[in-house]
Amino acid sequence: IESLRERSIVTLKKNWREGFTVPSANLYPFQWLWDSGFVSMGWSLIDKYKARLELETLFGAQWENGMIPHIIFHNDSPEKQYFPDAKFHGSEASDLSPKHVKTTGMTQPPVLGFVLEFLFENEIDKQKYLDFYRSAVKSVFRFHQYLYQNRDPKNEGLVYIRHNWESGTDNCAVWDSVWARYSAPTYDFVRKDTLHVDQSQRPTKKDYNYYMNLIELSRNCGYDEQKMYEILPFLIQDPLFNSILAKSNQCLSRLSNALDLPELSVQFDEWYAKTAHGINTKLFDDVLGQYTYFDLKNNVQISEPTAMGFAPLFAGIASEERANKMAELILSKHFLGENLDGYLCPSLGYSSSAFDPVRYWRGPIWPHINWLLAIGFKQYGFLEIAEKLRNDIIELSVKKGFYEYFSPIKSEEFKIGYGGEDFSWTAAILLLIME
Ligand code: DGY
Repeated sequence: IESLRERSIVTLKKNWREGFTVPSANLYPFQWLWDSGFVSMGWSLIDKYKARLELETLFGAQWENGMIPHIIFHNDSPEKQYFPDAKFHGSEASDLSPKHVKTTGMTQPPVLGFVLEFLFENEIDKQKYLDFYRSAVKSVFRFHQYLYQNRDPKNEGLVYIRHNWESGTDNCAVWDSVWARYSAPTYDFVRKDTLHVDQSQRPTKKDYNYYMNLIELSRNCGYDEQKMYEILPFLIQDPLFNSILAKSNQCLSRLSNALDLPELSVQFDEWYAKTAHGINTKLFDDVLGQYTYFDLKNNVQISEPTAMGFAPLFAGIASEERANKMAELILSKHFLGENLDGYLCPSLGYSSSAFDPVRYWRGPIWPHINWLLAIGFKQYGFLEIAEKLRNDIIELSVKKGFYEYFSPIKSEEFKIGYGGEDFSWTAAILLLIME
C-alpha cells in the first residue's frame, strides 16, 4: 500500500504543469474539466496548494455565460499531438468564450461541487481560505445556472448534453442508436490518439466523423445555445451527468451554508430536488432494473446495461427498492460475466451486443467510476459490493499498472491495462481509495 501511495504521488507530480495537471502526458496534453476535478481531490491529500490552483486555473477559463469548458488548451506546442485541436473547436466563434486562452465549446460532467466540498473538508486552516471557497462556489453556481437555463428546455430538472464528449464516456454504446439515424460526412483528418494508443482500444474512425460533425455544426452556430438546440442531432439526458449534477448541488448546499452564503444554499437545494425528481421519473427502466438514457431529439429512451446507470446511487436519489434491484443487477452475469468471476464494474454490460472488453467505454473498467459507485452502494448498505469496487481497482493497478482503463475479464490474455499510461486520475483515485 505504501508503495502504491508513493507511485500515485510520483505520477501526479510527473503530470503537473504550470497550474494544472495533464490527464496523461502524450494522449491528453491539456487540461480536462472532469479529470481536473478528480485530480484536485487527489492533490488535496498531498499538496493543498496545487489542489486549489488546479481549480483556479479551470475557473480562469469559464465562459461569460457560466459554462466551464471541457478542454483548456493552455499551450500551443502539444497541439501537434492532439486532434481535434483548438483551431478545429474554434471557441472564438462565440464572443462569450475567454479571450486569453482557447477552449472547446462544450462542457463535461459537473463534478466541481462535490470536489469543492471534499477540498474544504480536508482544509486544515479553513478560515485562511474562505475567500477562495466563496469565489469558487460562486463560479460553480454560475455554471449550474447556465446548465439549467440553457439545457433543460422542458423544465424537467434534467439537463441535456449536446456532444458525446460532454458525457465524459465518449464512445458509450448508447449513442450507436443516435448515429444510426443519420450519416455524418467523412472528414479528411489525421487522428493523433492512435499514435499513442492502439486503434483497438479507441473509438472507431466512423464514430470520429460523427464527433467532428457535431463540433463543426456547433461552431457554425457560433456556439449559440438556442441555435444548437434547434439543429443538433444529438441531445441526450444522461444519467451519469445528471446524477453528478445532483450530487454537486447537494454538496454545494452544505458548503454554501458553511461559507455563510445562505441564498445560494437554498437554490442548490431546489436544484437538487428538481434533478432528483427528473432522474427518478424519467430515467428508470423497470425491465432492465437500472437507470438509463433519454434521447431528447428523437423522444425515446435508450436502454443498455452500463456502469453509468448506477450513478443515481452516488447522488442518493434512488429508492431502497430500486437500489435493491441495482444491487442484484451488478452481481449478475450482465456485469460479472458468465462465470460470475469478473472485475467490477464494466462500463458496458456483457449482455450488450456492443460489449468489447478493451475498447474505451464499451466494456472496460474506469477507476473514477468505481470510486463513485463504491460510495453509492455503500450509502445504501451494500458494503460487499462497495469493497469489491474498491479492491478491484487496487488489484488492477497493482497487477497491470496505472492505466486509464482495464479489461473486466480475469484472464491471462489481458496482462496490462489500456489507454493512457501513468494516468493522473488513476493515481488520484488510488489516493482517495486508500485514505
Ligand atoms: C478524447 O480526445 O478522446 C477526449 O476524450 C475528448 O474529451
